[in-house]
Amino acid sequence: MALHNTAIRYGAVTKFFHWFIALLVITLIALGLYASDLPFETQAELGAKAWYFSLHKTLGVTVFLAALARISWALFQSRPGLLNADHRWESWLAETTHWVLYGSLVIVPLAGWIAHAAASGFAPIWWPFSQGLPFIPKSTTVEHVFATLHEIAGKVLIGAVILHFLGAMKHHLIDRDATLQRMLPGTPALGSLPVQHHSAAPALTATAAWAATIAVGLALGLTDANADRSNTSAISSVPLESVVSEWQVQDGTIVLRVTPFGSPVEGSFANWTSSISFDESVETGKAGEVQTTVSIPSLALGSVTSQALGADFFNVTTFPTATFTADIMVGADGYTAQGKLTVKDLTMPVVLPFTLLLQKDTAQMHGTLTLDRRDFGVGETVTDAGTLAFEVQLDIKLTATRDPD
Ligand code: HEM
Ligand code: HEM
Repeated sequence: MALHNTAIRYGAVTKFFHWFIALLVITLIALGLYASDLPFETQAELGAKAWYFSLHKTLGVTVFLAALARISWALFQSRPGLLNADHRWESWLAETTHWVLYGSLVIVPLAGWIAHAAASGFAPIWWPFSQGLPFIPKSTTVEHVFATLHEIAGKVLIGAVILHFLGAMKHHLIDRDATLQRMLPGTPALGSLPVQHHSAAPALTATAAWAATIAVGLALGLTDANADRSNTSAISSVPLESVVSEWQVQDGTIVLRVTPFGSPVEGSFANWTSSISFDESVETGKAGEVQTTVSIPSLALGSVTSQALGADFFNVTTFPTATFTADIMVGADGYTAQGKLTVKDLTMPVVLPFTLLLQKDTAQMHGTLTLDRRDFGVGETVTDAGTLAFEVQLDIKLTATRDPD
């Protein structure tokens, strides 16, 4: 069997690509629909869902790379003429479907890959390259938009595959021609081709169909992302009482780092208050006090935000705030805040070492802390560290100025 296509036959390379990719695409459609419908209430369910999604994404990236190779190969090949070119309408439909299929092999996996790259932390791709993509920011809006496009383009792909399959079956079972056989291994007798009517119409129709799909996908995705954002900001706006403080926080971040499925996800709390008293003249012992209250609903943690706020984790509807009350101590090793952290209804002693940069009436502090989420009953049902690591890192930075009063 020749490797290259001829004017009437598909060569071995095209056939290999066709069936390899067809098998993967059909598997991916089944996996995508199946995994999307899986529940994720318990740890076992969450683990299974993540596993199926990791498989889906890993095979999906494989299809994308194979599709690029296939398209590059096709660019240098002649395309065998249609065996039923004399049926104008049917051959237009067949060719349009082929172009839609070629387009889908790029658009569907690429949209999925971009959505994955913009998201953080759920079901990694198993290929040993980075989970991100160049130029794709970590952003829930980008994630929503491309996930919606992936879903809608996936539906167009499913429709095209059904049409394509029915066409192949019609040729084989009703017309009884060699269309299917010439895509299978072997060299069936083909006779001569009818006169071909070359036209750009099928390629243009497919391009227009993809342009419309992308426009609808992006518009729906943006609407979805906006709705999601306004829901999140509705809960983030739970107010915290303002505090009286000798040192007033001007600026700061409380970053939270968790590790679901082995890949770290970083987020932060947007809303918190701190009341600080501090006497910089103290050289050893207690130099002040700090009391920080954090609004838990103000957490943004990539694609796992709503899960983190849910009943199994922070249980935000029952426990909307966390508090840290500590004495600021100075010792030979520098500064520490020694006190108690309360998350949900659990209080644990905590020592936070930090650095302090003092310039007249401005103080900049930076401290990091590793906690065990189990001490605070966060993710109690997730008892395996592979699904969600027990260690959670906090990175706290703030700049405060001395209140002149
Ligand atoms: C040709 C390749 C692919 C096909 C045919 C495909 C197909 C599908 C289908 C049919 C669904 C279900 C959508 C629904 O719920 O209606 C789905 C979901 C999903 N796929 Fe793919 N997929 C492919 C590649 C990828 C790749 C490469 C990634 C990421 C690297 C990916 C990530 C996802 C994700 C995250 C979902 C969950 C639902 C969503 O957010 O849209 N897929 N896929
Ligand atoms: C469901 C099983 C499938 C069958 C029975 C099938 C059958 C065929 C046959 C017989 C041809 C040759 C058409 C001709 O000679 O004019 C063909 C071409 C083609 N198939 Fe499939 N196919 C299947 C699945 C797929 C899938 C899943 C995809 C991609 C998503 C795909 C993409 C294509 C493309 C792009 C061509 C055009 C090749 C070219 O001429 O450049 N097929 N298929």
